[in-house]
Amino acid sequence: MSSLVVIGSQWGDEGKGKIVDYLASRADIVARFQGGANAGHTVVVEGTQFILHQIPSGIIFPQPECVIGNGVVIDPAGFIEERENLNKRGIKTAGRIKISGKAHMLLSYHKVMDQEREASRGKGKIGTTGRGIGPAYEDKIARNGVRVMDFHNPDKLRAKILENAGLNNKILQAIGSQVVLDGQAIAEEVLSYRDTFLELETDVSLFLYEGLARGKKLLIEGAQGLMLDVDHGTYPYVTSSNTSIGGAFAGLGLGPKAIEIVLGVIKAYTTRVGNGPLPTELKNKEGEKLRELGAEYGATTGRPRRCGWFDAVVTRYSKRINGLTGLAVTKLDVLDTLDEIKICNAYQWRGKTLTEFPFDPDVLEQCEPVYEVHKGWKTETSGITDYDSLPAAARKYLARISEIMDCPIRLVSVGVQRDQIINCGTDF
Ligand code: GDP
Ligand code: IMO
Ligand code: MG
Repeated sequence: MSSLVVIGSQWGDEGKGKIVDYLASRADIVARFQGGANAGHTVVVEGTQFILHQIPSGIIFPQPECVIGNGVVIDPAGFIEERENLNKRGIKTAGRIKISGKAHMLLSYHKVMDQEREASRGKGKIGTTGRGIGPAYEDKIARNGVRVMDFHNPDKLRAKILENAGLNNKILQAIGSQVVLDGQAIAEEVLSYRDTFLELETDVSLFLYEGLARGKKLLIEGAQGLMLDVDHGTYPYVTSSNTSIGGAFAGLGLGPKAIEIVLGVIKAYTTRVGNGPLPTELKNKEGEKLRELGAEYGATTGRPRRCGWFDAVVTRYSKRINGLTGLAVTKLDVLDTLDEIKICNAYQWRGKTLTEFPFDPDVLEQCEPVYEVHKGWKTETSGITDYDSLPAAARKYLARISEIMDCPIRLVSVGVQRDQIINCGTDF
């Protein structure tokens, strides 16, 4: 099949970067459709670690063209820095990156607004990455945004930035911030990126449409995860984009039949970074142990990730919303030393058993997970490359996840390295 989308199916950081890198060897094009530099996608190749924020993880392989769709909010300064760092580290980027002219730009005032607003929220903090994502999408939806195509008209671009900086200064003052934005300086900085962006500007929808028609293989890289989706996640503790399947069509300008395979990436347990409900969270030594075993610290902010058992209520919900056709299970090796491993397959709420995800946050806060207990395999799995060689208890654990979700497992990741992966049959 010629098109596959990788969708985070928990709260982000499922290991999408690793999975995209692995599949990129077969892809002609790798495309991002939403989010921005809030993403931190880790790829490790022969011991060298790369963390991608805005550039698709397919860039590490030499051949795919990498595309940033209209649904992404692109931080121009961050993009240029990321590209330079890759070049310095021997990854060739020249001629390989295309950016939609319709993509909105995330500017320094968005970061200021994000950080200052979080600071003023006190207890109600979302715990954002501070990368300006919310304010950039707000400007897009409010129709105040600045797009890559605006570089064609520098005067209009400058005027828009000045207007936005002025509006933001009023808000900053109202929330008691000491920061004053210098619109003129921001505009001049942004305009210094003009040539770079005009060179990369592309009609992404047309490029992908024609590529698919010519038989090119398209790999689409989601950022964040379903539970951070602005519509379907744990609102308001979410990001500001559609991280789920619908975002892929809208964020790249694709028709509904352009994507054949929907691969949900799930960690063999659960993590979350930032605030908001997490029903299976282990606020104890077990949770700390998972954090240490899995090195669960944010790839973008370095914050410790909250850890808990695998939550099948959440991942089943992801299967439904995203129409998952297959699964990539990551970090199985992290569980190698545990005596017992739990799966939450339902929640208890006021004496009732809930098997479907309740979207009311007040209900969710009161839910208690119902666990089934599985025996640990107590065997190292990180060197295993075929499914049948996995310990029986590990196969049983995976089979149970597949059964509960009613979805086949296509890939199992057993370590950070590119080759630490078991392919159980992807048709991409
Ligand atoms: P992403 O945002 O979904 O791409 O995930 P991150 O890169 O933020 O976080 C995943 C972390 O787990 C990274 O540090 C990866 O190197 C690491 N990782 C990915 N797959 C595996 C795996 O199978 N086993 C282990 N131990 N680590 C993994
Ligand atoms: P990847 O692509 C995990 C979380 C933040 C916060 C909320 C809103 O690496 O999986 P934002 O900065 O987007 O306004 O923050 O979303 N968040 C992520 N958590 N992985 C991510 O990306 C995330 N991107 C945002 O921690 O709770
Ligand atoms: Mg990440």
